[in-house]
Amino acid sequence: MTSVQRKFRIPPGPVDPVALGIDAETLATLQQLQSEHGDMVSMTKPNGRLAYFVNDPVEVRRILTRRHSKYNKGPGFERVKMLLGNGLIVSDGDVWRRSRRMIQPAFSRQNVHRLMKVMVECCDRRAVHWAELAAQGEVCNITSETSDFALELILITIFSDDYHTRIVTEGENPFAFLSRDSTRDLSVVMKVRHLRSLLLSIIEDRRAGGGADDFDFLSMYLQATDKDGQSFSDAELLDELMTLIVAGFETSANTLNWVWYLIARHPEVEAKLIAEARDHLPNVSALSADSLASMQYTQQVLEEALRLYPPVWLFTRRSHAEDELEHFDVPPDTDIYLSPFILHRTPHYWPDPERFDPERFRETDQSKNERPFFPFSLGPRRCLGEYFSFLEMKVHLGLLLPRFRMQAVDETQPQLELGINLRAAEDIHMKPMQR
Ligand code: HEM
Repeated sequence: MTSVQRKFRIPPGPVDPVALGIDAETLATLQQLQSEHGDMVSMTKPNGRLAYFVNDPVEVRRILTRRHSKYNKGPGFERVKMLLGNGLIVSDGDVWRRSRRMIQPAFSRQNVHRLMKVMVECCDRRAVHWAELAAQGEVCNITSETSDFALELILITIFSDDYHTRIVTEGENPFAFLSRDSTRDLSVVMKVRHLRSLLLSIIEDRRAGGGADDFDFLSMYLQATDKDGQSFSDAELLDELMTLIVAGFETSANTLNWVWYLIARHPEVEAKLIAEARDHLPNVSALSADSLASMQYTQQVLEEALRLYPPVWLFTRRSHAEDELEHFDVPPDTDIYLSPFILHRTPHYWPDPERFDPERFRETDQSKNERPFFPFSLGPRRCLGEYFSFLEMKVHLGLLLPRFRMQAVDETQPQLELGINLRAAEDIHMKPMQR
C-alpha cells in the first residue's frame, strides 16, 4: 500500500498485486476475491494503481446513479476507443453530456415505434432463410442468424435505403466482420478505416440533401443540435454512428442467441411463449407497441436470459474525485470493477442461481425489484437502446417462434467467451423445423 493510500480507509483485500483484464481469468479472480474478502475488496494492480471490486448492490447502485459524476469510464475502454473514437459509450464529462442530450430524442418511444416495421422486415428475411433450411433438412447456425438479424436491423434503422444501395452493394455486408472477429487487432483497424470512409461519403450525400427517411437514426443525428444550436461535426457523427452500430447489435444478438439455446432445452417455456405470441400477435397486422407491451411472459424470458448471460458482464470505472462508499474511501484514480454477471448469480439474491427460471421475473413478484439486476446499467449512463432492444427481441421471438421449432443438435453446454461482451465461445447450431 502506498503512503497516499494509507491515509484513506481502504476495504480489505489481498496483499500481493492482482492483475485484472476483461477476460475469463478476471472473472475467476473476482469470484475468488469476493469469497475470501466479501463484497468490498481492495487490491493493488501490478502498475501500483489501487482497484476496488464492488459487489454490494447498494454501493453498485450508488456508483452508477447518484455518484456517477465522480467516475469516468475505466480500464478496457482503450480497446473500444480504437473502434468508437470518442462516441457516447466511451466519452466522459462534458463531451458525453452534450452528445447524450443531442442523441436522446432519437430513442424516444415514438421514434422507436416507427422503426418496428424494419424489425418485421428483418424477421421476414430470416423466416425465408429458415424455411429453406427446414425444407432441405439442414442445420442452422443460430449464432450467425441472430447476429445477421441484429446487424441488418441496426444498419437499416440507421441508413434506411442507403443500406441497400450503398452498403451491401457487393453481396457481403462490410460490417459483418464486427460480429465474426472478436479480436481488435490491426486488420480490424484497417477494416474500420474502410467503413469510416464509406460512412463519410453517405454523410456527405445526406448533408447535400440526398434522400432517406426522416426517422432513421442518421437523419435524427444529422438534425440534432446542442444548446448553442451546433450540430455534430463529421468526425463526431462518424464516432456516434460506429457506436450505435457496435452497441446496438452484438448485445441484442447475443441475448437472442442464448434465448434460442435456452428455449430448446425448456419445452415448457417454449410452449408458454408460443401461446402468448399466438394470443397477442395472431398475425403481423396485430403487431403494435401495445401488443408487444402486453407480452409479459416473453419479457420475463428475456429478463431471465439477461440475468444469466448479461452481454456486458463487467463494468469498469475510474474515480476522478474522492468518494466514500459504505465505510470506506475511494481515493481519486481508483479503478472500480462491477459485475452484473457475478451479482446476477449470487445465491443470496437469486436462489439456485444457475437455474433458468423466467418465473423469477413475474410482474406480481414484489421482491423482484429488490434483487440486483442491471444488464443495461443504471443511472444517467444507462443504455439508451434498452426499449429498442426489447421491442426488437419481442418482435423476433413473437414472429419467428410460432413458425419455427429450433431443435438442439448438440447437448453440450457452450463455454463462455468473456471479452468486452459475453458470448458463447462456440457458435450454436440448431435444426429448424416448420411448425
Ligand atoms: C440486450 C441488449 C442490450 C444490452 C444488454 C445493453 C447494455 C448496455 C450497457 C450495460 C451499457 C452501459 C455500459 C457502461 O456504462 O459501461 C449500454 C450503453 C449503451 N447502449 Fe446498450 N445494450 C443493449 C442494446 C442496445 C441497443 C439495441 C442500442 C442501440 C440501438 C444500444 C445503445 C447504447 C448506447 C448508445 C449506450 C451508451 C449510453 C451512454 O453512455 O450514455 N444498446 N448498453
